[in-house]
Amino acid sequence: MYRIKISLLIIALTGTQLIAYAQHKPINQRVDSVLRLMTLDEKIGQLNQIGPVSDTAGVNSIKRGYVGSMLVVHGVKDVKQMQALAMQSRLKIPLLFGYDVIHGYKTIFPVPLGESASWDTAAIRASARIAATEAAASGVNWTFAPMVDIARDPRWGRIVEGAGEDTYLGSQIAKARVLGFQGKKLGDVDAVMACAKHFAAYGAVSAGRDYNDVEMSDHQLWETYLPPFKAAVDAGVATFMSSFNTLNGVPAAASNYLQRDILKGKWNYKGFVISDCGSITQMISWGYVADEKDAALKAILSGCDVDMTSNAYVHNLKQLVAEKKVSVALIDDAVKRILYKKFELGLFDDPYRFCDEKRQADAWNDPVHKDAALQMAERSMVLLKNQNHLLPLHAHGQTIALIGPLIKSKHDLQGSWIAAGVEERVLSVYDGLTKKFGNNVHFTYAKGADIKENDTTGFATAVQAARQADMVIMALGENGDMSGESTSRADIGLPGRQVELFNAIKATGKPVVVVLMAGRPLVFNEIADNADAILYAWFPGDEGGAAIANVINGDYNPSGKLPVTFPLSVGQIPLTYNGYQTGHPYTAFGVPFQSRYTDVPNTPRYAFGYGLSYTDFKYSNLILDKTSMAKVGVINASFTLTNTGKYAGEEVVQLYINDAIASVVQPMKKLKDFKKVALQPGESKTITFTIDNEKLSFYNQQLQWVSEPGIFKLMIGSASDDIMLQSDFELK
Ligand code: BGC
Repeated sequence: MYRIKISLLIIALTGTQLIAYAQHKPINQRVDSVLRLMTLDEKIGQLNQIGPVSDTAGVNSIKRGYVGSMLVVHGVKDVKQMQALAMQSRLKIPLLFGYDVIHGYKTIFPVPLGESASWDTAAIRASARIAATEAAASGVNWTFAPMVDIARDPRWGRIVEGAGEDTYLGSQIAKARVLGFQGKKLGDVDAVMACAKHFAAYGAVSAGRDYNDVEMSDHQLWETYLPPFKAAVDAGVATFMSSFNTLNGVPAAASNYLQRDILKGKWNYKGFVISDCGSITQMISWGYVADEKDAALKAILSGCDVDMTSNAYVHNLKQLVAEKKVSVALIDDAVKRILYKKFELGLFDDPYRFCDEKRQADAWNDPVHKDAALQMAERSMVLLKNQNHLLPLHAHGQTIALIGPLIKSKHDLQGSWIAAGVEERVLSVYDGLTKKFGNNVHFTYAKGADIKENDTTGFATAVQAARQADMVIMALGENGDMSGESTSRADIGLPGRQVELFNAIKATGKPVVVVLMAGRPLVFNEIADNADAILYAWFPGDEGGAAIANVINGDYNPSGKLPVTFPLSVGQIPLTYNGYQTGHPYTAFGVPFQSRYTDVPNTPRYAFGYGLSYTDFKYSNLILDKTSMAKVGVINASFTLTNTGKYAGEEVVQLYINDAIASVVQPMKKLKDFKKVALQPGESKTITFTIDNEKLSFYNQQLQWVSEPGIFKLMIGSASDDIMLQSDFELK
């Protein structure tokens, strides 16, 4: 009787009412209840993502329920307007709104590579949390971040979007960012879905050229490139995005191996996968499929759930089902994954829950966000050189010439992907320094040169300003849009005439501090050799000018460490800290028959993990609680870290391990842990790293994650090339 009543009730209800009726049910059941009502066209609509629409055709397709999500549409007003169209559709299935919230939404933080230089996963997580809070208050419920691609080629402009070259550091940061974006749980009003991208191996595009092919051994894929994606899965990432590249001849958007075997198979991933922008139809241009229909077929079969802007699914899936090439069950699986997330986000219960004008305004103007952006920027900066302790600068009435194309720039400080960021919020280096030092310093200014231009007519005024000053601070580098998507460079030197400008200024004999801004490691040997101090500021975001001023005057003692190797020469690329000893080990430049170049040393300009502080740290007294361990056991390695200098500061202590003999030859060092430790002058702390079997494991020739008994070397240091303490131990 009760059942009959319920069924009658269900029949009488419209789709949305049915859903509302089922509110107390588990999400899976609610998903099924919606799925049962959907036509094939409506199902395919859920797999279709489109950009902003203004034409009637676009509007009508949303009203018909033929669109599941939109990208780029953001801000309460626009999102509300589009969601209202979806609410006119038969089943009123709410839209998802995805956007590239990469390093801030309204408040712009340092670019991701810069944040990664902080090695501060708590701060990185907090930055993503703030970005999510602002985005979620502005209608966005899905960010296309984090990019977790390991990148070892600074020619590739997208190196700026990730965490650099190292798998361990990259995995920790991937986790921090996912947890930050998604907050306590999806469904909270300040949480957005994260998206681990670009699956996979995009950072290894041939020759560092964007969108190119990737040829990679399975071993390298599993050992180096997949772990950050797995870390994102383990952290609960809601979605995945495939990449533009081919992997061993197969476009990632149609890779059965990546999407079905690994992600949805071995890793049992329950979220959904979106293609990259247009990458489904780009398979035609790759020569992998004949036409759009073939592209849709290959993509859906291989596990790509959502088509980002190719229109290949809406145009072809119905026909492919009719031809029995694609089963409805396969489409249902994709639709269920998407509906599940819409339920989880609470969109069925309130499609406008991310659309509150007041919350939006409050989030955009929250002073806590501005302060966090400042702190993150300070922590991201890497002091590369500080001859004669020129920095920090003690102001005592001197004249300082501020020179260079980035001194007064604002927009560049935001880097690429600036979501809803605006230039007006940026504090330039000029503003930051003049505000900080006030009347204690007399500042003069000369731009000297533009970033990309060949014009040197500004040199004379700049040289004159330098001559009349006690010292010079230069801000040089790339434009903010010279890294990011589609910005690969073959020559990663400073663009334009900036090196000549530096040389002219240096020739005045005045001390020169150079602040470098870029989204990638640059090659700048003359500056590295001749500047008195160098601060690598990446693109530091809205508060960059204030952060740089705080570092220069010592209010903040720099603590950043490079998350990526800085080469001496483009010809060394790809150059990483964790290379191999080889059968012809390199000992020094110029020695024949070693694995080497005849024209440049093997060593980098600045090694992975390198970065100076205003204070000094002493590493001493390494003690291992055991000299051997079983696979089920652990070894605790403790040492004393002392701040022997004059300033309070933070040191990133790094643990590296080498597996001396293994069935797959191992790198000379692999980062396996790190800690950021704060110490007052004179203070000491005991630091302990715990080594377990996981830290000693690798992928063997059968791609099994194993450890092998034998001798291991443990190395602790302040950079990958500055090992202070080491000891051997045995795995039994
Ligand atoms: C990029 C993605 C991005 C997408 C949406 C693509 O061109 O490769 O990283 O998320 O556009 O904007």
